Amino acid sequence: MPKITFIEADGARQEIDAADGDTILDVGQRHGIDLEGACEGGMACSTCHVIVHEDWFLKLDPPSEEEEDMLDMAYDLTKTSRLGCQITMSAALDGIVVSLPRGHHNLLDD
Ligand code: FES
Repeated sequence: MPKITFIEADGARQEIDAADGDTILDVGQRHGIDLEGACEGGMACSTCHVIVHEDWFLKLDPPSEEEEDMLDMAYDLTKTSRLGCQITMSAALDGIVVSLPRGHHNLLDD
């Protein structure tokens, strides 16, 4: 079972088991991680923004143009930011480490 380590904005770390095919958003939501996912994976909100640790970022498939456009509007954007709803877990990502940003812009609430 691939594991994800979430580092919350206050520095708290949680290592959580994922199932193959789960997105980082799915796993975080099931375990009370502060990832809202307001559009439920529709790439319309950016409230699933996570900051992927550099070594892992390089292992991910590149983001789609739609994902990049949505990330441009995310709060606390970094070079390794991704949308948690667009990263699907598999054995290759076992051990991935992601941090939560300090806040979110929920474009659905604007
Ligand atoms: S859940 Fe809205 S963009 Fe990922």
